[in-house]
Amino acid sequence: MRATLHNMFKNNELQKTVYIRTFGCQMNEHDSGRLKDLLLERGYTFCDSLEFADVVIFNTCSVRKHAEDRVYGKVGELQKLKAKKPGLIVGIIGCMAEAQKDEIFRRLPIVNFLCGPADLDNVPGIIDRIKNGAGRIMYLEGYKSKIIPAFSRNRKTGETAYVKIMEGCDKFCSYCIVPYVRGMERSRPSKEILEEIESLIKKGAKNITLLGQNVNSYGKGLQEKINFVALLTKIDKLTSIHPRGAIPGAPSQGREGDIKISFFTSHPKDASLELFRAIRDLKSIVKILHLPIQSGSDKILKRMNRKYTVAKYKKLAGDYKKIVKSGNISGDIIVGFPGETEKDFNDTFNIVKKLQFDAAYIFKYSPRPFTKAAGFKDDVSLEEKERRHTLLLDLQRSILLNKKCQ
Ligand code: 5AD
Ligand code: SF4
Repeated sequence: MRATLHNMFKNNELQKTVYIRTFGCQMNEHDSGRLKDLLLERGYTFCDSLEFADVVIFNTCSVRKHAEDRVYGKVGELQKLKAKKPGLIVGIIGCMAEAQKDEIFRRLPIVNFLCGPADLDNVPGIIDRIKNGAGRIMYLEGYKSKIIPAFSRNRKTGETAYVKIMEGCDKFCSYCIVPYVRGMERSRPSKEILEEIESLIKKGAKNITLLGQNVNSYGKGLQEKINFVALLTKIDKLTSIHPRGAIPGAPSQGREGDIKISFFTSHPKDASLELFRAIRDLKSIVKILHLPIQSGSDKILKRMNRKYTVAKYKKLAGDYKKIVKSGNISGDIIVGFPGETEKDFNDTFNIVKKLQFDAAYIFKYSPRPFTKAAGFKDDVSLEEKERRHTLLLDLQRSILLNKKCQ
């Protein structure tokens, strides 16, 4: 009895040091932050070094295969640590847990639990169950009917904070795994978002980024009648109530207009002139638009199911520059999508040259499970993808250099 009690105490009360490593996008950074707050509430502490950890959690990304391979590598490296410390608990959470569930349990026997991105609030309970002797746990209840959980009043923040306004995506771009791992679009009620932002500002946040896979779809499916521009307007009003750009009760050491609101990502199909005018007119909104173009070839855009043409994108980018005079614009580009010929790539090269992005994120196409493009022949060789990738990186570097010298 004494031994059992001792073990329970040891397992539940002492093994409370967690190492969390986050891969991928800002949505994952946000989710890891939330999980940390939940674990803190339960008395856990955190370490930056694997050696000191009782629980190791990898919050993972599935957007490209390379990101998954890194996680397989990193978790594989834990084998030695687990041999030294058999009680070590290892969890894989986030998109890869959804996408690779069976594969992970098969390839990585040291993994104790998996938890999908919509279920992360259950992680503390899962850890308790494992400590109490449950076997391996696969917690993938799924995202389909899930609403985004309310924010925690105990949420910690620095000057920079992410706020989720919507999650998931209904666009089904043919290369993208997001709808399959993060689920369909769902938005958070504006009242909750405003309360969270207010609470963050009171705690000292200054740079707040609104997150969503497609923020321009914000409001769909909510009972209230609201769209993204209306939400931005409400948020801007909240940040401008106080002359210093903060709300009453907020730390007042800042300068006027201290609170800055950014957002991403915008889909070109849903970006509107109304949005550009809001970016121009609302004081707290940072004048940066992330508008992924993905390709400069209409043929490839169609195969990607992007639902716009190069001409439409050019017009949008031009309108943005006209309306938001000092505005920055950035984009994502995929090279080596199935069927991308030298001519298609040259079209992409030329549009990047023409548009002069302030930042461009360039990726080599990577076939992803569940997606439509996974059924297309991946017919651009790795060497060719690398060549195109380098050419675009060099071009973008020279664009930025020129901009700096202007
Ligand atoms: N292969 C390569 N890049 C991809 N992206 C999304 N899916 C893939 C894929 N299968 C890129 C897109 C997207 C960014 C977040 O990642 O450019 O905008
Ligand atoms: Fe993926 Fe396309 Fe949705 Fe972006 S808009 S998350 S690329 S499916």
